[in-house]
Amino acid sequence: MLVSMTEMLKKAMAEKYAVPAYNINNLEWTRFILEALEEIKSPAILEVSEGAIKYMGGYLTVASMVKALIKDLNITVPVALHLDHGSSFESCKKAIDAGFTSVMIDASKYELSENIKITKEVTDYAHQKNISVEAEIGHIGGENSNILYAAAEDCLKLVKETNIDFLAPAIGSVHGLYKGTPHLELTLASEISSLTKLPLVLHGGTGIPDEMLLEGIKCGICKLNINTELQVVWTRAVRNFLNENKDVYDPRKIIKAGEKAIKNAIIQKNKLLGCTFKY
Ligand code: 13P
Repeated sequence: MLVSMTEMLKKAMAEKYAVPAYNINNLEWTRFILEALEEIKSPAILEVSEGAIKYMGGYLTVASMVKALIKDLNITVPVALHLDHGSSFESCKKAIDAGFTSVMIDASKYELSENIKITKEVTDYAHQKNISVEAEIGHIGGENSNILYAAAEDCLKLVKETNIDFLAPAIGSVHGLYKGTPHLELTLASEISSLTKLPLVLHGGTGIPDEMLLEGIKCGICKLNINTELQVVWTRAVRNFLNENKDVYDPRKIIKAGEKAIKNAIIQKNKLLGCTFKY
């Protein structure tokens, strides 16, 4: 069933585990993720970036595909379809109107007052329709951008003035592959968690050592975003398959060559975060 993320993350917060959110790129990945999570009875958060939505055809295509797969594959665990890094109110509205059950508004590049204004516009619209909202504050790093750590008092102001459901504060993680060992400001996460009392989201989940993730859960992290890791394991498996099978040209065989790698990575990650057999 497609649901918002609210109940699944409240449960995670109360029971001290984290729900991984996996980015989807196409129909096959969506199927692999759903089947793996059904096998271990884990709540599923399927995240989609605006780039991936464009790649797949549009908001409606993605929402319809996910709904149809849930039905055809007899998925019984709760599934949230979440817009990852929505860049504007319009983008979040399009996702909600198409059938997404959760959205992230990322107005973190703006000053706090503007971030609050845009985020509030999204929560006002989303909450009327029982759609959950995640917002970002500070700036999560990436290939071409630096980390700007979130300030705890700004987090509280954003939460109070917008009524968001989950908060993604920048605490040192970056999107993509880390150069060297990641450093997370977990004391800051703890402080933000006790101030805001909301489930916290950690972006840039790929490459963070296991012990650091487990510490993160103790400090209030309830949702862990993972994209690159699945891309890396899928690509490695497909590259090996193609090297060993030079005559194959059926795209179904090629894409499927990465199925086991994706499913294994998911099962391992969910086990680590304590997110198995929850439903
Ligand atoms: P990674 O690609 O580093 O796993 O990060 C994913 C993410 O945070 C999506 O929002």
